Amino acid sequence: MKIGFGCDHTAVELKLALMEHLREQGHECVDYGTKEAGVRMDYPVVGKRVAEAVAGGEVEKGVLVCGTGVGISLSANKVPGIRAAVCSEPYTACMTVRHNNANILAMGARVVGTELAKMIADAFFQAEYEGGRHEVRVKMLADIEQEYCMGARGPLN
Ligand code: RB5
Repeated sequence: MKIGFGCDHTAVELKLALMEHLREQGHECVDYGTKEAGVRMDYPVVGKRVAEAVAGGEVEKGVLVCGTGVGISLSANKVPGIRAAVCSEPYTACMTVRHNNANILAMGARVVGTELAKMIADAFFQAEYEGGRHEVRVKMLADIEQEYCMGARGPLN
């Protein structure tokens, strides 16, 4: 799978560790920045960048990391078509794909250690969306976007 990665200045090391881990499993990993841990990068910039890459089909899914995972996931979720989930353990990571069809995994570099983050990523990328009874609820999420997010630019997908 082609996966887009992004982080703010708090999470460069964890992002690189996750990219290496997922590359070892055969995934294609694209780095959308930031690349410098010493220079402040505001999380909305990268959250939006990766979310647009996912929504536009440039990559299939995304991984976003900031201090808590919250700010960068909030940013990503502003982009129509994005379902970004902050996860701190593998169960949620698995279920958010199976039930919510999540397309971005967010994590907090100040919350989870590197090895736990790898297990969370494995759970996320090994899970498959179940569709079926979940489809109607995922469609309801898209309906909310249609209701509120139809700006001058329109949806990305
Ligand atoms: C940066 O200090 C921090 O606020 C950011 O990484 C993130 O945790 C925000 O949600």
